[in-house]
Amino acid sequence: MSRSAAVALVLLLSGCVAEVVESSIKKAEPKIPTASPYVPVVVELAPEKTLEELRASLTAAQVEAYLRRLAPMLAGRSLKADEVTVINAQKGAALPVIIDAWTHEDGFVLMAREWISTRLKASGKKGDLNLELPGNLAAYLAKNRLPHSEILTANFCVDDSGAKIACDSGAPFAAGVLTTRAFLSNNAGRFNLKRARTVLRTFGCKDYPLTAVQQPPLAREVLIPLFQQDKVEGASGTFGNGVACYSCHSQFGAHAQPFVKFNSDGKWISTATGIQIEGGEQGRSVDGLSASHLSNPETSRLEASQVFGVQVPNLAGMGEAYVSSLGFWTCSVGGLMGYAFGLAESTVFTLPQDVLDDVVAAARAKEPRPSLATLAIEAFSHPAVVRSFDPQETP
Ligand code: HEC
Repeated sequence: MSRSAAVALVLLLSGCVAEVVESSIKKAEPKIPTASPYVPVVVELAPEKTLEELRASLTAAQVEAYLRRLAPMLAGRSLKADEVTVINAQKGAALPVIIDAWTHEDGFVLMAREWISTRLKASGKKGDLNLELPGNLAAYLAKNRLPHSEILTANFCVDDSGAKIACDSGAPFAAGVLTTRAFLSNNAGRFNLKRARTVLRTFGCKDYPLTAVQQPPLAREVLIPLFQQDKVEGASGTFGNGVACYSCHSQFGAHAQPFVKFNSDGKWISTATGIQIEGGEQGRSVDGLSASHLSNPETSRLEASQVFGVQVPNLAGMGEAYVSSLGFWTCSVGGLMGYAFGLAESTVFTLPQDVLDDVVAAARAKEPRPSLATLAIEAFSHPAVVRSFDPQETP
């Protein structure tokens, strides 16, 4: 296990609730932790020790206090007396044992559903639209201990009874939650930018602009003139307001392109062109479709694009490109921690990379594409995460 000298974990209790569930009928009360607020904590772990050794140096009191805090969020219940007995006997070694047991309970499956529903602001029903599909898929994957990556790559969706169904966009391919009308319509917008950005923030824990290594920009000359420029004459400001349109939109455009055939209702329209409506609002095409960043009509109508340097045929390929990147896995771990601990998204984006890398490496040593259960076991039994609750106690 390689780890740099100081592993720092900073958990900040967010002052506000990061996500508000819109247009939804909530299944359960949001489970925001109500115990005393977290303080910012920096934990340094001895780099020469293995995770097992570091866990072994935790006290029973530390482990119990931590698991008491975590149980309601992860298992949907409080810590049981027989679990406290296990903690007293095994101390830190009890962590993976107890958390593993939790991942087999219904409360864990419900947590997976609520996590994804909250992140994508999708639950309930809206007209003929079933906004539960993303949550249903998350629950199905968690329950069946399937790779968590199927959240972006499953070639099926799941109905409210838990049965596999075709996703509802009507596209001739599927990409997990990406091909649910719930996700697509909730994030519809001009140039398909909101869809692209929501995927990057939710499943990549990043925002534009990325580095040119992470996302090689599209060539200036293939873009429509609006996005070719670095600066609009006479404009000022720092965000989308006169500064380097090309720097963000050359990357944005690539990630928006696979959405070009999905209308604002989330339906796949084979005849979509990606061409801007004449005289219409910028970024709009006909019939509730959005315009492409690409100027050539031969390419603007195609779903093919380049994501993280990989050529993809469509949105299913984009899902694959995401889950093939390390960033998807560390973001899944960070996002899960953020949900369990009630952290703001900005805090999740800055969780210590060393800890996230440790967790993903440990999970991948068990499964090449880990299930949510395996990610949760490794994440929540990481000694730096446990120690962040109890900074005073230094072993
Ligand atoms: C720092 C990165 C960045 C830069 C630079 C930038 N944009 Fe954007 N642009 C964004 C983001 C982020 C969005 C919002 C996507 C969303 O809806 O979540 C956006 C959205 C847009 C939209 C769609 C607005 C809407 O309501 O959906 C247009 C049009 C646009 N930008 C044009 C430009 C132009 C023109 C420039 C240069 C003058 C520019 N942007 C520079 C990041 C950037």
